[in-house]
Amino acid sequence: MEIKRKILITGSNGMLGQALTGQLQEKGEDFTGLSHSDLDITDKKKVLEVFSSLKPSLVIHAAAWTDVDGCEREPKKAFLINEGGTENISMACMKNGANLVYISTDFVFDGKKKEPYTEDDKPNPINVYGASKLAGEEKVRQSLKSYYIIRSSWLFGQGRHNFVTRVLSWAKTQSPLKIVEDHVGTPTYTRDLARGIVQFIQDSSPGLYHIANSGHASRYELAKAILAYSGHEEVEVIPVRHKDFSEVAHRPVFSALGTSRVNLNLPHWQEALKDYLREFSGGRA
Ligand SMILES: NC(=O)c1ccc[n+]([C@@H]2O[C@H](COP(=O)([O-])OP(=O)(O)OC[C@H]3O[C@@H](n4cnc5c(N)ncnc54)[C@H](OP(=O)(O)O)[C@@H]3O)[C@@H](O)[C@H]2O)c1
Repeated sequence: MEIKRKILITGSNGMLGQALTGQLQEKGEDFTGLSHSDLDITDKKKVLEVFSSLKPSLVIHAAAWTDVDGCEREPKKAFLINEGGTENISMACMKNGANLVYISTDFVFDGKKKEPYTEDDKPNPINVYGASKLAGEEKVRQSLKSYYIIRSSWLFGQGRHNFVTRVLSWAKTQSPLKIVEDHVGTPTYTRDLARGIVQFIQDSSPGLYHIANSGHASRYELAKAILAYSGHEEVEVIPVRHKDFSEVAHRPVFSALGTSRVNLNLPHWQEALKDYLREFSGGRA
């Protein structure tokens, strides 16, 4: 796809939205980022108005309701935003001839596989968030002949609280930390993902792709690495089973993503984590 174009980012104040904004700014792209308060994607009329005034040729749709437990408690709202909002964006792209990049998630999988999920694996979500994001994928497929659906996983980055910032704040007040050892995924730095998305869509065919940092880890391994790379090795971490916590929403136990279809060679998650900590808090990485 030719990259000289007018780009629209939905959810631009979110964690990935901010990383995309930074990446497009760096590349000198012509883009507009719309936050939730600029555009509520569930408002179909407003979505169409925005498209006819901005006339984007490419939309990176990063807006979503990402609160996994919140989605479980309020499924109607989850589907309204993640499915209905995505349908509105897809239809507006169809009517205006814009290309769409929809960001989806590893949580479309049930987690029963023992090795990284590829794009050929069948989704089977086990929570409302995953189901609503998969329903969003379906709306994209139904509305458009050509699209990018990009699934990623376990994001951390600037802009809001995430697992990394949570572990760092728990470490200030709690010891030992009890962290789940039987949830495994691919921790991914939003800056690497944003760079990967922009680079990938520039010269690849539309389709379904997984983009994430390389390697995978359990939450326990990730927490240990966060503490080690930020100079808090003294904080004790005890591995526990997810069943020891009362979860509102079930999470897939294994949702690492295989990324060989994109072949971007993004850094290993440990390097990505060190980069993030260096930028985020002057960590000792
Ligand atoms: N976080 C992860 O671990 C992860 C993993 C895999 C895939 N993803 C996907 O990656 C994308 C970006 O995730 P993220 O972590 O950057 O999420 P995020 O930080 O929660 O950002 C999502 C943004 O969407 C906005 N939003 C929510 N409802 C909206 C609505 N009705 N209309 C317009 N905007 C709305 C939110 O605004 P408010 O906060 O103001 O409501 C927020 O700024 C999402 O599609 C997500 O499903 C995330």
